[in-house]
Amino acid sequence: MNHLVNDIEVIKSKATKIHDVDFDNLAFGKVYTDHMLECNFKNGKWEEPKVVPYQPIILDPSAKIFHYGQSVFEGMKAYKDNNDDVWLFRPVDNFKRLNISSKRLAMPELPEAYFMEGLKTLLQVDKDWIPKKEGSSLYVRPFVFASGKGFHASPADEYKFIIACAPSGAYFAGKIKVLIEEKYSRSANGGVGYAKAGGNYAGQFYPTQLAIEKGYNQVIWTDDVNHENIEEAGAMNIFIRINDTLITAPTSDRILDGITRKSIIAIAEDKGIPVEVRTIKVHEVVEAAKNGSLKEMFGAGTAAVVSPISGFGYKDKDFSLPELENNYASYLKKRITDIQTNKAEDPFGWRY
Ligand code: COI
Repeated sequence: MNHLVNDIEVIKSKATKIHDVDFDNLAFGKVYTDHMLECNFKNGKWEEPKVVPYQPIILDPSAKIFHYGQSVFEGMKAYKDNNDDVWLFRPVDNFKRLNISSKRLAMPELPEAYFMEGLKTLLQVDKDWIPKKEGSSLYVRPFVFASGKGFHASPADEYKFIIACAPSGAYFAGKIKVLIEEKYSRSANGGVGYAKAGGNYAGQFYPTQLAIEKGYNQVIWTDDVNHENIEEAGAMNIFIRINDTLITAPTSDRILDGITRKSIIAIAEDKGIPVEVRTIKVHEVVEAAKNGSLKEMFGAGTAAVVSPISGFGYKDKDFSLPELENNYASYLKKRITDIQTNKAEDPFGWRY
């Protein structure tokens, strides 16, 4: 039977798949909850969102998503604490960034209430799917894409906004080894690098495959002009610790304004860790690795949280990082996850 939750229509699935899921051994993003949020843009406006059973989407072969890649997404996590209360982390920032991404791809922006009320309703309906185990969470994937038809290379006239959720474990199994990219680029000035556009990730797959063939897990993206500056780590922002200073690249046309990135900066500054947001030269990192002042490197993103790097390759040479007992990565990861999961006070007001 259909009913309204938070004024949003809910069409419940006939049966649940939850009993097929091994919540003690969750991979990342491989099983999906019983429901999804669906909202259509037609005749120049967004229609009311609905929670519906999780199901395949039927599209015309001429849908513009297939031809011109008009598609943007977000990554979020929902956590359940010991009292079974459900928490999100800075969700309004994800909403705002989704619209920033949509605008860049000439796609219609969503009303905040559709995103937030739709998200809350979906999480209420699928609350039992939110894992409690440490290191697990419900990965929440909001996305918008062009469902409208036509081979003309111009924006579609119809779109779909969907939120799908996957109970998930860790994104990476352990530390990662990375290759500093010398040929390919993730983004360029004036491009779409700051947007969470699906194509930004597709463009990374081939260079990443080449890096994996050489024995690395991820690529460290450098600037598109001379490959002299370090910009991002795979699908994450990057942090580099030289002596006691934590450095990350400034956001720009080319770099994603990561919510984990800006939270890590705030937590580190609050702890009294010196933080520099500035251009990081590849040669500076190589020099620091040679003279021993390079202490840590890690990626930061929603899916992987804080992902420590064990070493990097550059110009056919490998450099390894020291194993530090009191490292920043462990402190920052614990601090941010304790806030996210309601295990610690949230002096920043991020928990929702
Ligand atoms: C996230 O960290 O949530 C992302 O969006 C990156 C994704 C490629 C897993």
